[in-house]
Parts: sequence; structure tokens; C-alpha cells
Amino acid sequence: MSEASGAIGSPRTRVDGRAKVTGQALYPSDVALSNPAFAWLVVSAIAKGRIRAFDLNEARAVPGVLEILTNENTKGSFKTQPNPGGVSGGATTTLESDRIWHDGQIIAVVVADTLETAREAAGKVRVDFEFETPAASFDSPGAVEQAVSTIAEDHSDPHTGNAEAAYARANVKIDGHYSTPAQHHNPIELFDTSCVWSGGKLIVYEASQFVHGLRGALARQLGMNAEDVIIESRYVGGGFGSRGGATSRTALIAIAAKRVNRPVRLVPTRAQCFTIATYRAETRHRVKLAAAQDGRLQALIHEGWEVTSRPANYYVSGTDATARVYNCPNVATHVSIVHADRNTPGFMRAPPETPYMFALECAIDELAQALNMDPIELRRVNDAAADAIDHLPFSSRSLMACFDRAAEAFGWHNRDPKPASMREGDWLIGYGCATATYPANIGAANVRLSYDPQGSARVEIAAHELGTGTQTIIAGIVADRLNVPIENITVELGSSLLPAAGLAAGSSHASSVCNAVAKACDEVRTRVAGSNRDPATAGMVEVYIENVPDGCGPDDAKNLYSGRPSFVNDDKHARYAFGAQFAEVRVHELTREIRASRLVGAFAAGTIINPVTARSQLMGGMIWGMSAALLEETEIDRRNARYINSNLSDYLMAVNADVPSVEAILVPEKDEIVNPLGMKGVGELGIVGMNAAIANAVYHATGKRVRELPIRIESLI
Ligand code: MOS
Repeated sequence: MSEASGAIGSPRTRVDGRAKVTGQALYPSDVALSNPAFAWLVVSAIAKGRIRAFDLNEARAVPGVLEILTNENTKGSFKTQPNPGGVSGGATTTLESDRIWHDGQIIAVVVADTLETAREAAGKVRVDFEFETPAASFDSPGAVEQAVSTIAEDHSDPHTGNAEAAYARANVKIDGHYSTPAQHHNPIELFDTSCVWSGGKLIVYEASQFVHGLRGALARQLGMNAEDVIIESRYVGGGFGSRGGATSRTALIAIAAKRVNRPVRLVPTRAQCFTIATYRAETRHRVKLAAAQDGRLQALIHEGWEVTSRPANYYVSGTDATARVYNCPNVATHVSIVHADRNTPGFMRAPPETPYMFALECAIDELAQALNMDPIELRRVNDAAADAIDHLPFSSRSLMACFDRAAEAFGWHNRDPKPASMREGDWLIGYGCATATYPANIGAANVRLSYDPQGSARVEIAAHELGTGTQTIIAGIVADRLNVPIENITVELGSSLLPAAGLAAGSSHASSVCNAVAKACDEVRTRVAGSNRDPATAGMVEVYIENVPDGCGPDDAKNLYSGRPSFVNDDKHARYAFGAQFAEVRVHELTREIRASRLVGAFAAGTIINPVTARSQLMGGMIWGMSAALLEETEIDRRNARYINSNLSDYLMAVNADVPSVEAILVPEKDEIVNPLGMKGVGELGIVGMNAAIANAVYHATGKRVRELPIRIESLI
């Protein structure tokens, strides 16, 4: 072995690339089952009320039907449990009673010999509903607002100084209302699940962002020992937060498989996926900013409202970020949830920061306009060495370096600050920018590493491959630290039979996993160096490492096995990654068609293990941010509290033709505080800020300030 750790940061293509393009990569939905039965979901046609009665006679008469689960024959077979760590906040609320909480709620599961039979029989399940008028969203009669601080013990609205007094005193101020729509993850792999009982054990093939979390939740629901539940999730066909927690479908399919004594596979429809899992809830914001003539912030007031379901208190509360990002002596925030008759929302890429930073960063742009100041310079004047609320110094902060790099690459100096002043033919051109920020998280992780001095290694870790490159960076760390050719490294991940490695969310996974793997490599090196045997003839070295980073609880590594996620809590430093997002939009003067012609982002997130996969992550986030700003919205029929574009043709999202040019720049940054490898994570950072950069560019192109997403042709007429 040689000292090769300097190779971290060298570009490597995906180790699983070949398996993916040749179809050898088996996603959970691809795993072949022996003699499977198939499930089809019957979902509620009303959003609120109860089930008076089922008539299953016609459905049961379909040849090949094996079982039909309803609340009448299933309640009591499982225990309702909140999701692990409150990951999705929602209780299991299906087949427990006759109560209907939301449109599209699972009310029956039909199991049959074939998928077609199950579907046919599901269409013959007759339901007598007792209908109540639902509340669809904000402003619906019956929607109930609650301040988050009154319902969540661990929540306090961040504040400092006296913001209202400072706002009243100031002479330059803005006051704006902003809103973002409901959005759905729409991963290409549907929310399917397959359950197999074998010798008293339950094996579940289901894509997951936390196999031990899903294992723990399912074991509690079914009253089993966690050791008797196995989750297999080798690849994940799109996560984005949607697979962070358990949903009710898995327990239902496990019960069905037990009853019919056969493996059961559920493949829901795309429309059902809008209501049987989570989504990003619609939000509203009021932001008031006040500044001195030189641009220094005097007051920042951010109020937020978020929709949630009737029974759950899910919230994201992005003021934790917006209150801290700029230097401001007087900050006040307040977040409320609004209960409506909807399915429970959940994590979706940068859950708090995406909507809340949209509001703040549009407001900053409006303040720059009011001050007649360049928006980058306004952010420079308010750059901070410590967070505004707790006054903790940033472990590192390269925000303005990111702005400088991105501005140069983008050509910001070509911008005429006057709105609606730049054009090319019939196209009005606008430049906009915004800050991106996301907490630098890390948690505990366990790993087993076997090293063969003949030149190979094997890593076993229940990490998750969401398409982000987890296997590639793990293999890269081992290749660097043990000087093993990357093609001789096997990475086993995505199974609850492997050492628990936490929740792949919150941009914590790469740092959690890589720091654990690096520590295991160091342990191998120490053992090899300490043995007296000639390395050429030495045998295998196997180590098992529990990595508990500074700032995590002492039992965090062990607790992962019970499905409890681990996150650092640093009371000495504010840990954030930063970025600067730039967008050029073109708005047709006559038709008001909007095109995002160029996206440029520069990001500083500490050590980058692999620039190939990191850049892909950031580009994906930027494209999604643009897509969310201009296209994406789950449309809601307000009378029936029902999603009406629950398919991939009506739910608009960016395709290649919508993204002519996107550039993600990695700004070097060294951070010795966040963790030994100095990693901050890039999974969510790329989406934050792009919503506002687009909205600010649309304003610059047209002179019209649109504060409601998505911005479409009709917003500009
Ligand atoms: Mo991410 S939304 O934290 O899975």
C-alpha cells in the first residue's frame, strides 16, 4: 500500500454505469419472484368522509382473485406507527378504520393470480361512501391553521433583536407575498413493493433511502423482530426524499403475502403514486426586508405557511435557513401549518430551503432594485462570518467566492441593470441570480471492509445508491486509501443485511458513508502495518467500523440498526454549504413564451470526492430548480381536493429541449471542522436558489415581478 489519499477528487466514471446501461442493474421492481401473486390498489374516490359499506361479491367472483383486504378484515393486523425519526411525519392511515382522510387513499388491496385479474377485480369493488365536503388547500373553508411553535416541542421560530421596530424605522424597505405550488417527486421507478415470506422471515424488495429505517418501521407495524425483516434495495430508481420514510403500502402487501401464502408484488399506477406516498406541499410566504442606504440589512421578517394533512403535523420550516444566511441584527420568523384533507406531505429535495429561499432571494432582488444596487453587491454587503441567530461562526463560507466565479462564467457584467432593457429580436433577455445554501450534515455509519493484499477489496455497507454515485465514491475512497485498482473493489450496498449506514437524505449520506469507509481503510492499514507478516503473503484483513462523528450521540451507530437516523448537532459552528445560481431567461415579447436559455451555478461544498458525480448532482438540482420555477405544479381540483394532473404528460417537467445550457462550477473549499474528510454534500444544494434566480431573471427581462410559482405564459400577460 502506498500513500495515495491525495487522489480523492480525481474524476471517475460510475462503477455501476455499465450495469445500468446494459440492464444488468436490478432495481427492486426488477427482481424476479417465484410464483408471485399481484396486488392492485383500490383508492378512495372522495377526499373526506367514511366508508359505509363494501360490496365485494362481484370482485370476488372474478376467476383468479385470491384475497381482498379492506379495513373490515385487516384492521388490527398491524399497528399504526409514525415513520422512523418522523421522516415523513405522517401516521399510517389506511385500512385502519372506515375513515377517509384524503382523495386517493388506499381503501382496498385486491390480490390475484395475475396483474390483469387483480386490476379487473379492483374495478368491481363497490364502495358506498359517506361524503363530507373536503378542504383542499389554503383558503378552503375547514382548513385549520396552527403555529408550528405550538405543536412541535423542538421547534422555535428563529428570531433576534426587534425586527418590527427596526422595519418601522428604516427608510428603504420591501414587503412581498410569495407562493410555491404542490409538487410531486415522480421518480421513474413507481412506488411498488414486493413481499416474500420465507421461513418466518419477511423479505421486502422495495426502493428505499433508509433500509434499516424501513425495516424498523415495518417490524413495529407487524409486531415482528427487526431481525426477521429484510429490506433489499440494491438500486433506487429515483428517491428525491420520497423513499426516506415508510408508507402504508409495504405492511399491506406483507399482510397480503402472508394471507395468500405466496410472494405478492404491487405495482401501483402513476396516478396512485401521487396519493400513496409524499410530495412537496404548497407554501406561502410574507417577507419584509429593511436596509440602510448602503444596503446593510436592518430587519428581516419571514412568515411561512405550509399545507399538511388532517391527521399529521408535517412541516419543513425553512426559516431556520433564511433567518441565518445574512448578517442582520433584527430577525423575526413565524411558521404555520394549515391542515387540509390531503395526503401527508414529506421530504422533497431540499425540503425547507427550496421554497423558503425562493421567497427570501426574490425579496433580496426586490430590495436591490429599491436600493438601486447590484444584487450581487447587496449580498456581499450582507455576507456574514457568523449566523445571525445563534452567532456561531460558519465552519467555512465561500458564498462570495461562488458569486464571483459564477458571475464571471455567466458574463454578469454584460447585464444592463434596467429591467426590460436587453433584447435580441423579439426576445426580451433577463439575467437573475440568487444564493444557494444547505446545511452540511453528517451522521453515524457502520461498515465492514475486507482487504486482500493480493490487490482486491470488498466493502459491505447499507448505503443507498439513488443514482447519485454512492458506489462510485465508496470505491474511489478505497482505491485511494488502499491503492487497490478500482475494478477490483466490490461494493455491496442497499440491503438491511449489511452494516447500517443511515438515511440517504439531507445531503448527509456521502459524508457519513465516505468518512466511515475512510476510517475502515485506515484501520486496515494500521493492522497490515502492525502485522509482522510479509504483505505479499499476508491473508485477508477484515475490519468492522462504527463511525460516530463528533457532534453525534455516542449510541448513534448502534441506533441505526433500530432505524433511528443520526444527524450531527454542532453547538460551536454553523455548518453550511453555499452556492451562487445564475439564470438567463428569454421571454418572447408577443407570445410571452419563457425559455431558460442558460443556467450557471458555482458551489463550494468542502471536499469533492468525485467531480464527475458531484457535478451531475448539482446539474440535476439546477435543472430541477428551473423546472420548478417555470413548469412544475400539481394542480388541485379545489372542490374535490383531488390532484388532476397525476400523470407524466400533464405534470410538466423539464426535458432536454428545455435546458439548452447548464454549467455547474465546483469552487475549491477546505473545511477542517465538518468532518475528517472535509465533505459538506451536494445532493440538495443545486436546487436551492435556482427558483429565485429564474424569477429574478424574468423580472429583469420584463419588468414584471411574479411572486407565485410556477411562472408561465399566463403570469406575464
Ligand atoms: Mo432528501 S429530500 O433529504 O431525500
